[in-house]
Amino acid sequence: MNTSMCILLAVALTTVVSCRDNSSDDSFAGDISAASGEGNEGAAGSPVGEEPVPVPPDPPPEEEPAPRTDIDGLPLPDLTTEHDYVRYLEARPRYYTATTSPFGNVRSQDNTPFSNPVNNAGAKLGRVLFYDVRLSANSTISCASCHIQRHGFTDPAQFSTGFDGGKTGRHSMSLTNATYYEPKSFFWDERAATLEEQVLMPIQDPVEMGMNLFDLEVKLAETSFYAELFTQAFGDEAITSQRISEAMAQFIRAMVSYQSKYDQAFAAGEWNDPDFEAVFTEQEMLGHKLFSGFPVGRQASLGCIECHQTSAHTMDRSHINGLDADTSGDPGAGGGFFKSPSLRNIAVGAPFMHDGRFGTLMEVIEFYNSGVQPHPNLSPDLRRNGSPTGAPVRMNLDQEEKEALVAFLHTLTDETFLTNPMFSDPFAE
Ligand code: HEC
Ligand code: HEC
Repeated sequence: MNTSMCILLAVALTTVVSCRDNSSDDSFAGDISAASGEGNEGAAGSPVGEEPVPVPPDPPPEEEPAPRTDIDGLPLPDLTTEHDYVRYLEARPRYYTATTSPFGNVRSQDNTPFSNPVNNAGAKLGRVLFYDVRLSANSTISCASCHIQRHGFTDPAQFSTGFDGGKTGRHSMSLTNATYYEPKSFFWDERAATLEEQVLMPIQDPVEMGMNLFDLEVKLAETSFYAELFTQAFGDEAITSQRISEAMAQFIRAMVSYQSKYDQAFAAGEWNDPDFEAVFTEQEMLGHKLFSGFPVGRQASLGCIECHQTSAHTMDRSHINGLDADTSGDPGAGGGFFKSPSLRNIAVGAPFMHDGRFGTLMEVIEFYNSGVQPHPNLSPDLRRNGSPTGAPVRMNLDQEEKEALVAFLHTLTDETFLTNPMFSDPFAE
């Protein structure tokens, strides 16, 4: 403890003592009457030596954040902090925004419709909705219960738990880079034609949130703050499901990840430039080459990038990667075709695949290495010689190469994105 703190403490203690003196003066009067009531005069004047030692006052109540509740008794968000989503998107690196890019055109994959571009007021409202438990029938869960920021907006549970304790039929999907999917469709089986359509579906899903949209509009109108948020975003107070959908889609489309180690390498130089390689370890660089299908020594091209395309690592369309020979149990988009979310932040997104069957990235790599099944519609990219009728590919990777692929996938983890306040829970502030 330094001197000035000692002085402060001494002053504080003196104050405490004098306070106690005053208060014991007050109670002294009470003591007299009590004492005189007992007819014992002597008790009134206790000897100085027996003065009770002043007890320090109770510490101020623990800084337990008072539960911030709104007039409906449910949580109240922090609305004072403004985030600039538009600037965040404008700061995307060139290979995200240019029409020519070393691993393919990312920009053309963007599914943002002209009718609903991201703007700050819309994404701000979308963020509050995304984290609001009011969207579920019993006000217990929000979208973020199953799409958790530090996991790249997926769920570490194999199947997620809905509002009433039920389990989802598939693993939750990462929302990282959701804006980059050219077919525009959403879900593992692509059943939602657009993101605007998709975001209203979990709300009404009988397992996930169990709410109906009419009740939701009424429920949101009974708060103190949504009217203003809708006014900022759409010009007037009307709370409609279309506006709810547009705002949430804007928030999700702002979730672009571009500050991983992989991006640092790009910032240093072109992919075939020594400065690019210098950012990566040798192991990560080997993994990058294997992933991207560059020849490395004896190993022929792997071409993960044939399906997980471009620097945004998203798909061009759904594919069959041979998880099962028979996909009639879950045919996905039909015939066993599935969409994969972007592989950005994949290392924090376990478990993997639509049914969360793999717990680690090494299991995923081992699957592609030796476990691809002979499905009739298996992609030629995963068949021997790329032939449409060939047997499932056996990559024959050695341990070093498998570990290199895992190491490369870790370079896609973007800590800035995973902790960025603009994507965090406004109800927790
Ligand atoms: C109970 C858990 C749960 C809740 C709550 C939930 N989701 Fe999901 N989400 C999932 C699961 C599981 C999937 C994959 C389902 C499938 O494909 O059949 C998914 C898929 C998605 C996708 C598709 C991503 C893609 O690339 O195709 C989006 C977008 C999404 N959810 C957004 C939301 C939004 C917005 C909310 C809140 C309105 C929400 N989710 C609430 C579990 C949940
Ligand atoms: C023929 C296209 C294709 C190729 C080639 C391919 N994948 Fe995939 N990948 C998919 C599909 C389709 C899925 C989703 C499958 C499902 O869940 O049913 C997927 C899923 C994944 C996932 C899990 C994603 C998640 O969110 O759970 C990872 C990780 C992955 N692939 C890595 C790789 C790697 C590494 C390679 C190269 C060794 C590779 N993929 C090659 C099509 C492909």
